[in-house]
Amino acid sequence: MEFEIIKKTPLYNALSEQGKRIYLPQGVFHWSGRAKKEAEIMGTLGSAFGFEEDFIEGGAPEWVPLYLEDIKNYTKFNVNEIVPYSKISGLEDLRKSWIKWLLKKSIYKIDSEQEKLNKLENFITTPVVTAGVTNGIFLCCSLLLNPGDFIISPNKRWGNYDNIVEKLIGAKIKSFDFFSDKKFNVNGMKNAIYEISKVQEKIIIILGFPNNPTGYIPNQEELEEIIDALKEAQKTISKPIIILVDDAYEPYVYSKEVINRSIFYELHELEEDIIPIKLDGITKELLLYGGRIGFITFGLKPHWVKNSQELTTLKAEIDNKLSGMLRTTISNANHFYQSLILKLFDDIGMDGVIEKREKVIHLLKERYEKINAEFRKIKNENISVDSNAGGFFIFVNLNNISANHFADHLLKKYKVGVIPIEKQHDNINGIRIAYCSIDVRKIPEFVSRIDQALRDF
Ligand SMILES: Cc1ncc(COP(=O)(O)O)c(C=O)c1O
Repeated sequence: MEFEIIKKTPLYNALSEQGKRIYLPQGVFHWSGRAKKEAEIMGTLGSAFGFEEDFIEGGAPEWVPLYLEDIKNYTKFNVNEIVPYSKISGLEDLRKSWIKWLLKKSIYKIDSEQEKLNKLENFITTPVVTAGVTNGIFLCCSLLLNPGDFIISPNKRWGNYDNIVEKLIGAKIKSFDFFSDKKFNVNGMKNAIYEISKVQEKIIIILGFPNNPTGYIPNQEELEEIIDALKEAQKTISKPIIILVDDAYEPYVYSKEVINRSIFYELHELEEDIIPIKLDGITKELLLYGGRIGFITFGLKPHWVKNSQELTTLKAEIDNKLSGMLRTTISNANHFYQSLILKLFDDIGMDGVIEKREKVIHLLKERYEKINAEFRKIKNENISVDSNAGGFFIFVNLNNISANHFADHLLKKYKVGVIPIEKQHDNINGIRIAYCSIDVRKIPEFVSRIDQALRDF
């Protein structure tokens, strides 16, 4: 693959050395593909196959992957749906379904926003399947960041970003304070962009709402401020801004005051080279934490290509690079859970999935309302709860008390567990409360114990 089209887009210069280097060599795939069409006897497939009757008592005269009979006790799936390798980039049918799922999540209206739907459908890559959102974050960071490069992120973020970016890749995170006046710190983000643009030809940002650990989601006005700031910054610096949109908690929005879909969609609409990459998955969205299936979808810009041929080539080139990353790290994602999602979509439909999940969202919403209400009752200048409207967590800032010390005291004396986050260099000192795992009836007691513990200081 020559990567002719991607080289003409701003994406190419934004790639890391590894990202520029990586591709999926044809080798095995070339020969097995040819053999499928041309060979009479196949000796290319690197997984063991045979007639079922030859290795299972009472088996059929069918050519199947060799498997252990007992695995059938644990699943209704046909062995072909779980035993063989999935394709590197994922099961084709699942990838197509996920495009439909993305279109659904865009909440564009089929009757009045057909143009937007068409643009979305045409100008995204076919999602590639990863081993969970974490793996998607890692792959995209590797594709974009050289050791020493900067990625911009608000200070209140999932701690694993630091592990992936700084410890594993050796790149750096340029932090800015998440909040300014209880709102998303748009100026902080803009200043970070300007600062990094002095030392880097590309701007990479990681953002996602609902956020972990705060649960923050912008309202429409705040989102517009974010978008305007990005547009202004991109125009001033004339460098591509790539935004990794971490949509791990996408559907968990409990307030009517805030936006009710991923910022990916708004970013995708922009003409400027503000390039969103959507990272989502079944983990929280379909409540399958252990399934380890995520997706990477690139938002593309119409002005990058002259015609549909170039667009198809560009998608294939990006797909090839991502496949190269997948092949060299996880090889391919879990087949069983890919089949499971496909079945779920086929059997109950996407609307069925949304409807069934509604009960879960409702349960979490009650906890969200309860925990916020309980904290509002506490009159204590030493704490403040960050603005939150969704997700699985709230974040309580602590003044004058070390968060680690407080969490330790809370656990020892009051038998209440929370996650302290104390990073002086990043201006954070507080506790993350995962109300997603606290029964609503226990929340008053939970908060009351925190209140009592606070009084000990
Ligand atoms: C913000 C954020 N992104 C990504 C992930 C990871 O998702 P996955 O389990 O699909 O790898 C998490 C999980 O806690 C998270 O909080």
